[in-house]
Amino acid sequence: MTAGRTGTMQSQIANAPTGPRRGPASGKTRFDDIYDQPDPRAYFRRLAPFQYEIPHHGQQVFRRDRSERGKLPGAAGPVTVLDLCCSYGINAALLNHRLTLAELFAHYTSPAALAMSRAQLVDHDREFYAARRLPDAAPVIGLDTAPNALRYALDVGLLDAAYAENLEHHPPSDELRDAVAETGLITVTGGIGYISHRTFDALLRCAREPLWVSAFVLRTVPYEEVAACLDGHGLTTRTDRRRTYPQRLFTSMAEQRGAVEQVLLAGEDPAELEAEGRYHTRLYQSRPRGTAR
Ligand SMILES: C[S@@+](CC[C@H](N)C(=O)[O-])C[C@H]1O[C@@H](n2cnc3c(N)ncnc32)[C@H](O)[C@@H]1O
Repeated sequence: MTAGRTGTMQSQIANAPTGPRRGPASGKTRFDDIYDQPDPRAYFRRLAPFQYEIPHHGQQVFRRDRSERGKLPGAAGPVTVLDLCCSYGINAALLNHRLTLAELFAHYTSPAALAMSRAQLVDHDREFYAARRLPDAAPVIGLDTAPNALRYALDVGLLDAAYAENLEHHPPSDELRDAVAETGLITVTGGIGYISHRTFDALLRCAREPLWVSAFVLRTVPYEEVAACLDGHGLTTRTDRRRTYPQRLFTSMAEQRGAVEQVLLAGEDPAELEAEGRYHTRLYQSRPRGTAR
């Protein structure tokens, strides 16, 4: 973390929304109160009963993407990853450390962690992550509207830079533009719906390197407009329609009913998926035209 990067983050806090935010899909339970806490303990405590698991599925996919993106002809040095809606740096933790999502849940909900002050937790976690850092760890930068979550991720060393900006409503800062220019891979879990084609358009306008995008998207949330926007920037989007990835248990029958309705309206079949009690996502991968597999 550098002073300049910290300044970047704080200078953009005024851009973060203050009013209620639209959830990714109508009828979906909102967890807004746990997105911007001083540390991630409440986040893991609240989501544990619902078995939130999408960052676990992202871990292998994003590691593989980063490695393949790094083998492109002309690629020099480690690939910089931009994690959108990065929250407390969970995808960065799983990408760059010998850790599983289950271990993060266990750590942040443990009696030992709950007994710590925020300062003690930060000191502890800095060592916790340093001890588990992988030798091929790559730079990760984060974008989120939650400044406290980003502060925690910077403090414990999960993110190399963080931007508390809302590109749905404001253009990117100069600092974020410069960071995107060096980015090779964009990742997203749990964020599509909060962010739309507007955020992607703003980011893609700043790209200088061949940019890959890998996004896990709830089946209740349309992705067509994002894919069309990426196409306009020269990226072809593919998804394997035979495969879904569970995100979490529904919080109530009403939430499940809403999700099943939305899936049906989208022309999809909820049988054996949402009908069984969990939100499911698809993985959309976008690559420069001509290189998509
Ligand atoms: C469901 S959480 C996902 C967090 C993390 N990616 C994960 O999977 O655990 C959604 C995140 O999106 C962030 N968010 C909401 N609106 C946003 C926006 N317009 N731009 C960037 N981030 C936003 C929230 O602050 C929150 O951290």
